[in-house]
Amino acid sequence: MKQTQLIENILQNRALLELAAKGLRDGLTVVFPTETVYGLGANGLSASAIDGIYEAKGRPSDNPLILHISNEAMLKPLVKHIPDMALKLMAAFWPGPLTLVFEKSAVVPLRATGGLGTVAIRMPRHPLALALIEAAGIPIAAPSANLSGKPSPTDFEHVVEDLFGRVDFIVASEPSEIGLESTVVDVTGEVPVILRPGSISTSDVRRVVGACSEDPALKDVKEQLKPKSPGMKYRHYAPEVPMLLLEGSAEKVLDWLEKAGEQGRTAYLLFEDTWEATGYKGLNLGKRDDLDTVARRLFQNLRHIKAKEYDKIICEIPTETEGIGEAIRNRLLKAAGQSVIKL
Ligand code: TXA
Ligand code: MG
Repeated sequence: MKQTQLIENILQNRALLELAAKGLRDGLTVVFPTETVYGLGANGLSASAIDGIYEAKGRPSDNPLILHISNEAMLKPLVKHIPDMALKLMAAFWPGPLTLVFEKSAVVPLRATGGLGTVAIRMPRHPLALALIEAAGIPIAAPSANLSGKPSPTDFEHVVEDLFGRVDFIVASEPSEIGLESTVVDVTGEVPVILRPGSISTSDVRRVVGACSEDPALKDVKEQLKPKSPGMKYRHYAPEVPMLLLEGSAEKVLDWLEKAGEQGRTAYLLFEDTWEATGYKGLNLGKRDDLDTVARRLFQNLRHIKAKEYDKIICEIPTETEGIGEAIRNRLLKAAGQSVIKL
């Protein structure tokens, strides 16, 4: 058990900011907020500090990590070169919820990249994240700050629930602005390739660089293709009970629910219109035409479902396959092991 120090109002307290930053330089673990989800940070250039991350999370160690930077000057030493398409994407989306995969330089330990010759890098836009990284002066390796197998944490309380006693510092903040992890884009080839969908969509990338493709493993319903983003092969978001997704209009979903009837201890996650029409059954995902809100609350909603109370989850999935809809679909399909009924 570690002595975890909770830090509130870090921007108002320079001494605490410096303490956490020094902790990072000294190889300690610091959980910090970002605009996507909370991250579990450690010195990205130190193999032993990175071991601390894996130990705290209890996650398989071949999973490559994202290095977080606070200014563009920090990028150059970490990569072999910066392709033109990357420069364009950085200008458009950094700081922000975009992670770019480059050829790595020798400074980046293989421990950070799960043995790969490439490295994932992101400049978050959350002011606390930027201030902390800037004060530390080193790239910060940070996966989402959840225990392995749990949804990424979007609330300070989730972080405390998972990691209190397992990390050295936890920096408190508001609930995450976006709620889903960053878009991961490989920029080592001819055209950018989306490895993990996020709030920055394929069409956003295409608008900036003219072309963009998607890792075929993303659309592989049987999950037989090997994803280029190794982390995608783990069922990160898997709830502890079976989950069934319903895809269709409110009318069709209501019809299906009525025909199915009550089925034991089922947790329902429904869009606001269907939720109201069922007499407030289960949890409200948000309005089906306000997917930004659905995304922001998704992991929080999934965390509310405790396995011991239910033996099944029935959840609506957006039909929208563009933008944030695609990212929500990706997380839900993975959580449900691709089990979806199209109505
Ligand atoms: O929004 C986010 O990205 C959050 C916050 C904390 O920044 N971080 C996050 O990290 O989601 P993590 O470790 O949970 O997910 C990292 C993803 C995984 O899918 C991993 O496989 C992929 O990035 N990744 C990392 N390095 C890679 C590489 N060299 N090549 C391909 N994919 C890589
Ligand atoms: Mg994660």
